[in-house]
Amino acid sequence: MNDAPIGIYDSGLGGLTVWREVRRALPGESLVYLGDGKNCPYGSRPREEIVRLADQAVATLVAQGCKMVVVACNTATAAAIDFLRDKYAALPIVGMEPAVKPACLATRSGVVGVLATERSLDGDLFRRTAARYGKGIEVVAVPGSGFVELVENDLEAAPEAETCVRRAVGPMLARGADQIVLGCTHYPFLLPVLERVVAGHGVTIVDPSPAVARRVVQLLDRFGLRASADSRPVYSFLTFADETYRLRLEQKAVAAFG
Ligand code: DGL
Repeated sequence: MNDAPIGIYDSGLGGLTVWREVRRALPGESLVYLGDGKNCPYGSRPREEIVRLADQAVATLVAQGCKMVVVACNTATAAAIDFLRDKYAALPIVGMEPAVKPACLATRSGVVGVLATERSLDGDLFRRTAARYGKGIEVVAVPGSGFVELVENDLEAAPEAETCVRRAVGPMLARGADQIVLGCTHYPFLLPVLERVVAGHGVTIVDPSPAVARRVVQLLDRFGLRASADSRPVYSFLTFADETYRLRLEQKAVAAFG
């Protein structure tokens, strides 16, 4: 059982930013990455539909023999994590935490920006977290409109990426945000352009994926699920889209890790 893979799931390519951190933190573990691709983006779909898609994805990873599943998608976590933990009660499931807490603890200006999908921002998870840690702090939440599409189309370095990022981040900078949380796993792929746009504003960009990878390590240890020392990690990639998309997942993973 311990040499079974860890499953990592996202609506598309974005969860590879979490896959990269898990692979770094756990170089001996085999990983199965499932990037839906067929139904991406999830960001403005109704909650019930995202629950159904996430259920289908976790069932697929369970059928692959995964010993743990990481829902590397803030939108699917916000919509479906309780449902999934209930239905797959024997399976350790790690979800994405909106990194509002560390940002609120670190801010000196008292203003924190949060970029996420529409569905994540109107979900309970974000509302509860912001209410709990954001007392006395101004939380400026803006949907990253167009961000997922840019990443899915490999347009991170195109001029329209900068236009999109400036439009979303502008109101945060105008309010004096000194922390900007990336609340969608696609967004770290836009880090070079984000850093360019916030340059000179004294802003720290907060990517929760290293913390999620630490949580995976913690849970593996808690359940005694670490792969044996002599196991050889295997990395595989699945999708609900087509073989072309599956190959893109593989290529983007190699590029993201390199
Ligand atoms: N990567 C996802 C997230 O973390 C979902 C993006 C989407 O499909 O809209 O929210």
